[in-house]
Amino acid sequence: ICTYCQQGIKRCAENSNFGHNVAPLSGTVYMSDNNSSNAMWGGRFASGPDAIMESINASIDFDKRMAVQDIAGSIAHATMLAKQNIITASDSEAIKEGLLTILSEIENGTFEYSKALEDIHMNIESRLKEIIGEPAGRLHTGRSRNDQVATDFKLWTRDQCDAIIEGLTELMKALIDQADAGADTVMPGFTHLQVAQPVTWGHHMMAYVEMFARDRSRFLDARTRMNESPLGAAALAGTGFPIDRHDTAQALGFSAPSANSLDAVSDRDFALEFLSASSICATHLSRFAEELVIWSSAQFKFVTLSDRFSTGSSIMPQKKNPDAAELIRAKVGRITGSLVGLLMVMKGLPLAYSKDMQEDKEQVFDASDSLMLALAAMTGMISDMEPNVASLETAAASGFSTATDLADWLVRDLGMPFREAHHITGALVAKAEEKGCDLPDLSLADMQIVNERINADVFNFLGVQNSVASRQSYGGTAPKQVRKQIARWRKILS
Ligand code: ARG
Repeated sequence: ICTYCQQGIKRCAENSNFGHNVAPLSGTVYMSDNNSSNAMWGGRFASGPDAIMESINASIDFDKRMAVQDIAGSIAHATMLAKQNIITASDSEAIKEGLLTILSEIENGTFEYSKALEDIHMNIESRLKEIIGEPAGRLHTGRSRNDQVATDFKLWTRDQCDAIIEGLTELMKALIDQADAGADTVMPGFTHLQVAQPVTWGHHMMAYVEMFARDRSRFLDARTRMNESPLGAAALAGTGFPIDRHDTAQALGFSAPSANSLDAVSDRDFALEFLSASSICATHLSRFAEELVIWSSAQFKFVTLSDRFSTGSSIMPQKKNPDAAELIRAKVGRITGSLVGLLMVMKGLPLAYSKDMQEDKEQVFDASDSLMLALAAMTGMISDMEPNVASLETAAASGFSTATDLADWLVRDLGMPFREAHHITGALVAKAEEKGCDLPDLSLADMQIVNERINADVFNFLGVQNSVASRQSYGGTAPKQVRKQIARWRKILS
């Protein structure tokens, strides 16, 4: 790999004059062999850009990821131009064929990207000129790079919404399978990371299904709002050519053309929404990742993570580290960093387009890559992980986790006011602590010392299995309730 251009070294050595005239990684050495002005917009310029200018200006190193979208947009535009008799049918055909040739060059890796041509839009158009000659110059009629880039970027982000929605669906399915297998398995439910009340493994898994489902709906929602076509907004004011923006919008799968050309080229709220949905989703992932780190520790032993998603230590042979979980936990940092980064880029920008907005793409690309990877890793980990039922059960019963059940029984069966029941239960907990046992292990005699109205029925309500089975309120932890939710989600996702 050439450190200048990130392309294959072979081509770089063979053709050192091809966009490798800037050495951003070499510190102070900037060599420019580019003295001619830009072929695409250089009409009024006497000389080429300074090498540093070229380096700060070029976006090709990253926006080449939108090549497929750029070609799709150009084909839609050229087709429409011919339909509207703005260019001839034969020019439009030549443009389309040329663009398809470029697409195959890009796909088979032979396309040569040039930094001197700044971005993906001009790289493709310049190559089109090489392939088809004069008609290439007619493609940009009634269009500007401003609406072109907004269109490409929207198409790219829309595709990513679809991919993430799919990734989230896979993750939800993995969680539902875990929930199903462990619908009856009890585990401690925590507040403040202190044992609070027993819950079921299935209930805990399904909690994340709800969160990831909302994430999914956020991406779906953002996708609906972003689905307006900027193409044909031109530089900012629209165009005098009789273009048909409805036609290109439809060809590209947009629901409509955007209704204001200034807005179309100048807002990036679709990218911000994508980053915001990504940040919330990454936050959810990080919480689960943190639980997996805790649960897989020797102190908890709640789960065994598979070797496929763990690593060893180079010095401590006994160790198995939950690296994938830790990295998922960390990804939220860069994803939310991207959101904040782009918010700061967009803040205070006057209408319409400003070059600042070229800084939008790397944030979205990086966040999207990170989220996709985190989703895939989490799905793999969830599918593989094994709950340690014995440890979960033991932990579920620890820390007087059924104290609330005891208080509830005093209220329900003995008709005590809840506050009094709360007080008596506190005294029973103190008694169990004194005896070094759990609540269900106290003898009836011991209980009656605290309150003589307590009878043997109480033992039917202590114990974690009784506790979880009793929580039949809608959305509660009872296995029966959890199974209802599992069935509901399976139906939705099928
Ligand atoms: N590479 C540019 C970007 O990403 C394309 C738009 C350039 N428009 C312009 N008027 N210079 O924003």
